[in-house]
Amino acid sequence: MKITNICCIGAGYVGGPTMAVIAKKNPHIKVTIVDINAERIAAWNNKDVSKLPIYEPGLAEIVEETRGKNLFFSTEIDKTIAASEMIFISVNTPTKTYGKGKGMAADLKYVELCARNIAEVATTDKIVVEKSTLPVRTAQAIKSILHNTGSNVKFDILSNPEFLAEGTAVQDLLSPDRVLIGGESEDAIESLAAIYGSWVPQERILRTNVWSSELSKLTANAFLAQRISSINAISELCEHTEANVNEVAKAIGMDSRIGPKFLNASIGFGGSCFQKDILNLVYIARSYNLNAVADYWEQVIILNDHQKRRFSDNLISTLYNTVSGKKIAMLGWAFKKDTNDTRESAAIYVADHLLNEQANIAVYDPKVNSEKVQADLNYLNTRSNEENKDLVKYYDDPYEVSKDAHAIAIMTEWDEFKTYDWQRIYEQMKKPAFIFDGRNILNKKEMTKIGFEYSSIGQ
Ligand code: NAI
Repeated sequence: MKITNICCIGAGYVGGPTMAVIAKKNPHIKVTIVDINAERIAAWNNKDVSKLPIYEPGLAEIVEETRGKNLFFSTEIDKTIAASEMIFISVNTPTKTYGKGKGMAADLKYVELCARNIAEVATTDKIVVEKSTLPVRTAQAIKSILHNTGSNVKFDILSNPEFLAEGTAVQDLLSPDRVLIGGESEDAIESLAAIYGSWVPQERILRTNVWSSELSKLTANAFLAQRISSINAISELCEHTEANVNEVAKAIGMDSRIGPKFLNASIGFGGSCFQKDILNLVYIARSYNLNAVADYWEQVIILNDHQKRRFSDNLISTLYNTVSGKKIAMLGWAFKKDTNDTRESAAIYVADHLLNEQANIAVYDPKVNSEKVQADLNYLNTRSNEENKDLVKYYDDPYEVSKDAHAIAIMTEWDEFKTYDWQRIYEQMKKPAFIFDGRNILNKKEMTKIGFEYSSIGQ
């Protein structure tokens, strides 16, 4: 099928950057991203591209270049679906918070709503592309909804999971390790492959069956998260044996079978995907009674929770077993550097734990605002919104946040943290001045020389 109009449902961290790059590389195709969230669409349409709803290095420039030419953001969902030959479903698939599978399974209600919406308004043949991360065999459900409309419209369903990482989304999209397309209809697969073919070499475009494609995304995230939990498990052992986790990581990473990436010990992984996708994998395995498989992957999450907990426990015990009334400055709130996304950020859970111990939390993050910090804590429902407001203060300046603090906790690996005047920070803190480096980004020798009581992960 010749594609001249693309609709993407969901203007989020995946839909926005992915479609911006598709539009840039396919100037002959009109790409429209739709969303039910009118505020988000308005932000994408903001004349000032520094105010886009999503921060990703390089994204604003691409949006500026393509927006209004062949990239559009709209709330007119029905009209856009009707006018497009290809529709990407890129909506959120969070962990279910109710009913069967609560806390484990993926909540597919948004995906199903999209399928029903497409079924309702389509009058011409469509290729429907699953871009959201979905449990293996979801395409079956989408197919069943689309094929039971009673109309003569033909729908082809493709799975095309997204492997971009937040913080490097644009780079990942411009030169992906691979693009994965799963489907039944060769014609539909090639229509999508042609779009990526505008900039991705053919040998990097993999064609598989739908189920392999769906399962590959869950598996990729499970493997990535497992690496983090593996090195974090070793970090705890290092702390008890005087081994240094950075040295161990370097030594094992030089083995070409292991490789050096994704071996940084830390406070644990966050982000909207790793935990939810592993929980989903565990849920699926259990639903087939594969309990050994489920237990194996569940351990990745258990270790990650343990790592966050042990970071805050260590902070409290080092501060003489009490943080009550003490100012703890948190540098970083985003779940990783170069993004404003805070979903499942370790900072939220560490802050919550410290708040339970009556700490005063002070936060600074280069890209996250105070409303987001409050909303993340309020969402946990551990205490009233008023209490959170009282106990958590937000600062726009890294030197202000650390003034009179008893301790600094580094939660995100933002590059700018490395370049601060740490002598100046030291001078204005309460003494002894503690640093808990949850990302191992500062130099222990230098920090100790200034006078800090410095502790990091696995050293
Ligand atoms: P997001 O929450 O940032 O964006 C989803 C958007 O879909 C929201 O703006 C929401 O308003 C909209 N939406 C929900 N239901 C809708 C409906 N019926 N009609 C129109 N719009 C609707 O989510 P994000 O992060 O973009 O993730 C989307 C999917 O991509 C998820 O399945 C996620 O697992 C997957 N993914 C995410 C990655 C990431 O790094 N964030 C990477 C790879 C995959």
